[in-house]
Amino acid sequence: MRRWTLVTGGAGYVGSLLVPMLLSQGRNVRVLDSLKHGNGSSLLGVWSDDRFEFVHGDVDDETTLVEASRDVSEIVHLAAIVGDPACSREPDEARRVNVDATRRLLDLAQELGVDRFLFSSTCSNYGKLEAGDVLATEEWELRPVSLYAETKVEAELETLARANPDFTTACLRLATVYGVSPRMRFDLTVNEFVRDVAVQGSLVVYGEQFWRPYVHVRDAARAFVAALDAPQETLNGEVFNVGSTSENYRKLDLVELLRERVPSADVQFVHRDEDPRDYRVSFEKIGTVLGYGTTRSVPDGIDEVLRLLESSAIEDPYALAYRA
Ligand SMILES: NC(=O)c1ccc[n+]([C@@H]2O[C@H](COP(=O)([O-])OP(=O)(O)OC[C@H]3O[C@@H](n4cnc5c(N)ncnc54)[C@H](O)[C@@H]3O)[C@@H](O)[C@H]2O)c1
Repeated sequence: MRRWTLVTGGAGYVGSLLVPMLLSQGRNVRVLDSLKHGNGSSLLGVWSDDRFEFVHGDVDDETTLVEASRDVSEIVHLAAIVGDPACSREPDEARRVNVDATRRLLDLAQELGVDRFLFSSTCSNYGKLEAGDVLATEEWELRPVSLYAETKVEAELETLARANPDFTTACLRLATVYGVSPRMRFDLTVNEFVRDVAVQGSLVVYGEQFWRPYVHVRDAARAFVAALDAPQETLNGEVFNVGSTSENYRKLDLVELLRERVPSADVQFVHRDEDPRDYRVSFEKIGTVLGYGTTRSVPDGIDEVLRLLESSAIEDPYALAYRA
């Protein structure tokens, strides 16, 4: 019997790079995605692969889930209402998809005897750190300051509580992602800054002094591959921050990097004394335990997104399709 890796939300920004990586390893990959953003073309590159299957539907729909879970041995759960703005726009939907559906998927996975379940979480869960010069580790107390982070913390706890010797679960807390993917997003800080400077020549920056970690979208996808390949005992019931400790930046640092490339950029700073999301993160654990390291840096990502926009491959980077 063929065993499948189910990737929920696999047509998304991270998923559409992860899926070809998993196929190239020889895995059978089934994607379950509602194509919420009209992002159906993001997986056309793998469509003719006979180890690929696509199920269109809602991760919260019983019939869809049963179809998608057939002969599945491992699940990467990416489907979500992603980020603070999207969750604020649709708070009920955010709870339904991010928390309730995750719980149901975990129930079904256990019922079906799935071996491994990876939950895609976020470093936003750390909220604001007390002292600016400390690095948050996975043991840090979580202080969600948005509905998005609240739903992610709740789903993390549920995921970790299910871990047992027959059901390996782990949570990957991604840094803010950047870079180019087949399902492009321009609502993420680095990509958004580059777009505004490249297209409008100007940029407004709120709270330039606040820190955040960043990770390239390919490296974010590679972290799931590393976790799927890791021995059970290193993974079960664990949380891993995904990124690199050297890739914590203030927004001001991002602006400096952009100005080196586009000196004419007109940047306005709107100072804020308080930002609920101000955190620097340590990524030591994923390096030590999973042997994972990132391969790209924010300057690489800025160059990459600039090249994309200069190429005219994207007609209107302000289109709603490019946000979560
Ligand atoms: N991009 C980031 O900076 C970032 C950072 C931290 C964590 N994450 C997490 O990584 C995961 C992937 O994020 P992304 O950036 O690829 O976002 P994305 O919006 O591009 O991808 C999410 C995918 O889930 C699908 N989806 C949404 N609701 C669904 C539903 N009810 N049923 C089935 N499919 C549904 C969407 O159609 C989309 O293809 C999310 O869980 C997100 O919270 C992302």
